Amino acid sequence: MHCRPKNASWFDWILSPAYAPRDIQDASDYGSAASLIRVANLDQLHGDGPHALSASGFDVVVVRTPAGLRAFEGRCPHQGALLGEGELDGDKLVCRNHRWRFSADSGQREGGPECLASCPVVERQGSIFVDVSGLSRGPGRIVAKRTLDDLPGPRGLPFLGNTHQLDVTKQHLILERWAAQYGPVYLFRMGSVRVVTLSDPKWCDQILRARPETFTRHSAVAPVFSEMGVDGVFSAEGDAWRTQRRLAVLALTQDHLRGLYPKLQTVTTRLKKRWERLADAGASLDIVEDLKRFTVDVTTLIAFGHDVNTIEQGDDVIQRKLELVFPAISRRLFALFPTWRLVRLPRDRRLDRALAELRAWLGELVVAERARLAAESGRTEKPSNFLEVMLSARDDDGRSFSDDVIFGNLMTMLLAGEDTTAYTLGWAVHQLCDSPESVMELRREADELFGTSDVASDIGTANKLAWAGAVANETMRLRPVAPIVVVLEAKVETVVGDLLVPKGTQIAVLMRPAACDPDHFVEPHAFRPRRWLGETAGAHDESAHIPFGSGPRICPGRVLALLEIKLLLSMLYRNFNVERVGGAEGVREEFAFTMSPVGLKVRLRRRSSALADTGTA
Ligand code: HEM
Ligand code: FES
Repeated sequence: MHCRPKNASWFDWILSPAYAPRDIQDASDYGSAASLIRVANLDQLHGDGPHALSASGFDVVVVRTPAGLRAFEGRCPHQGALLGEGELDGDKLVCRNHRWRFSADSGQREGGPECLASCPVVERQGSIFVDVSGLSRGPGRIVAKRTLDDLPGPRGLPFLGNTHQLDVTKQHLILERWAAQYGPVYLFRMGSVRVVTLSDPKWCDQILRARPETFTRHSAVAPVFSEMGVDGVFSAEGDAWRTQRRLAVLALTQDHLRGLYPKLQTVTTRLKKRWERLADAGASLDIVEDLKRFTVDVTTLIAFGHDVNTIEQGDDVIQRKLELVFPAISRRLFALFPTWRLVRLPRDRRLDRALAELRAWLGELVVAERARLAAESGRTEKPSNFLEVMLSARDDDGRSFSDDVIFGNLMTMLLAGEDTTAYTLGWAVHQLCDSPESVMELRREADELFGTSDVASDIGTANKLAWAGAVANETMRLRPVAPIVVVLEAKVETVVGDLLVPKGTQIAVLMRPAACDPDHFVEPHAFRPRRWLGETAGAHDESAHIPFGSGPRICPGRVLALLEIKLLLSMLYRNFNVERVGGAEGVREEFAFTMSPVGLKVRLRRRSSALADTGTA
């Protein structure tokens, strides 16, 4: 469908051949057309939007403009994210992920040819109705040329398939080696289950966008997460996912982060002080452990409004309990038999104890927050963090979320926010140890922007840290902490690329092969942050780099994670010299749902003392 011309009224446009809706019977009495679908009560929509709604399985975004309501297809043409998660900036609808801007009136992208498909929308008797009959469901029927039987892949054993070759902690490396050998689409077997493995960006994009209708997370995800009590937005599907996703995104908006920035600055300054003490003692440091303290402190502040301050605590911190969860998820998701359901081994009992302690700790936070909400009724109307949002939310029947859903989501936030960002920071430090030029640029940038401050003094300054952002991107390209982004399952028979994918087929999406392919990035194995600043000639295809996933389930913590990374790297390199203890070969990748840098130790030296010693930075 075409954009409505700026000078045409909705009425004229609906009658024009350019609009050509398929099944409107009588456009002059639009309200009687069978294709109008009620999508919301007016009183459910606060403010001008954007509002994420759905009609007949289509995502729709509705905004209120000075000229009236407008409704568009709800998925961003860039990577298929939900536009209802974005923001209105004047007359522009802005996608929250990579900031594409669309006219809220016509849907036309600013500075690009893309245009959002518009849907007629009417307000009647306190409700909003939208006509989605003009939206299309993808490219239509594609004829498959291949079946799963045609795919190459490693030979397996009867009964076991390739399970015996898949060392859990090196799984990503094994799948990547097979991708190099068999190509961007191949098949391996876990017992009798066939898993299609993809690394072609176009194919990955197709299936990551086709959620939740055509692909879901692998069916083992929900039970494994649920029996640990960590089931929240990551493992939810269908309507439950939509509701929980909306609440998670609310807690992670730019506005919310702007309001909390002074607290992020405090956490960063605490870490600087801790590192100054360690630098003065000349101690070698397991920096990833400290980075986890930083990310847990930030996540609990942003998501729960609670300052847990693990940076200033001793060793008995909640990270000790959290660190048991991801390895257990990884083991259980990829296990041939659910042995833990039959026998509790010592490691399962340790996990049970850790989960019980985490739940008790979160339980105290929930009780305190409920009391605060009861005492200050205004907070329920304007909740300021994820915990308050979850405790205040009511469904159409006025019911609140169960404690299990609340705990599951608090745990999800903690887990999703901790390791991913801490490991990315750890990998950045590791890469920077061998890239003095990048360290120099990071410093130059921080020195220029910070004035007399040791840490970025406001969010505007933090957002200007282009070199730190480039280091983050380059690190995630070479060291994606979610190297197997998701294992998905086809809900219905479908065609991906030219491949017939039967219902129930499992699909693993690999992050790194495409991002390290010379067709997509020039000198793909070199660490070159500069390439993200548009300063390098040669191949640079950003669609092959999706460390946060893509489609409607793209990571909602992306903006927060990038802010944390910039804030921390600029503080570290402005204030310290960092030296790795031992060579690069002593640091290895270990997969446990996320990919960590094992063996990374550093020694810090205050930059001021290095300057005094040598007269240089
Ligand atoms: C460098 C840091 C991070 C990376 C690389 C990362 C990566 C990812 C990836 C690959 C996914 C799966 C996306 C998909 O299914 O397409 C995801 C999902 C998710 N992430 Fe992140 N993430 C990071 C930080 C964070 C942070 C800081 C938070 C919140 C505090 C967060 C919260 C979530 C949640 C809640 C989901 C589930 C979304 C859903 O299923 O709808 N992440 N992340
Ligand atoms: S700008 Fe919308 S997904 Fe990238």
